[in-house]
Amino acid sequence: MNVTVSRKAHFNAAHRLYRPDWDANQNEQVFGKCSNPYFHGHNYELIVSVTGPIDPQTGYVMDMKVLKDLIKEHVEDAFDHKNLNEQVPEFKNLNPTAENIVVVIHQKLKPHLTSDQALEVTLYETPRNFVSFKG
Ligand code: NI
Repeated sequence: MNVTVSRKAHFNAAHRLYRPDWDANQNEQVFGKCSNPYFHGHNYELIVSVTGPIDPQTGYVMDMKVLKDLIKEHVEDAFDHKNLNEQVPEFKNLNPTAENIVVVIHQKLKPHLTSDQALEVTLYETPRNFVSFKG
């Protein structure tokens, strides 16, 4: 019997969407305002969900304090108030779209779960635009 537990988190970060091998016009055409060379920020909201069996000893799928600390260490401390393009190594050569960010977050958290715990990450870039990744 699997149950899903979820934790919400938040970080603010700046980014710019562009390809260095495209000229300014092509970047503007594909990425619009998001290619602004001076960067722009988002208030990212995150939902991290872990699905797995209930531990009969604790009654937990996962200790939420442990999940909270994992998110803080691997996501908030790494991304919050950062320029994703310039300060976060994962995006040095990877466009920091919501799609790529959610995959990176998943990759950072997954190794810290047990093999019988499934991970889904949902990332809101704006209140209306969000992406999710299950691995
Ligand atoms: Ni943006």
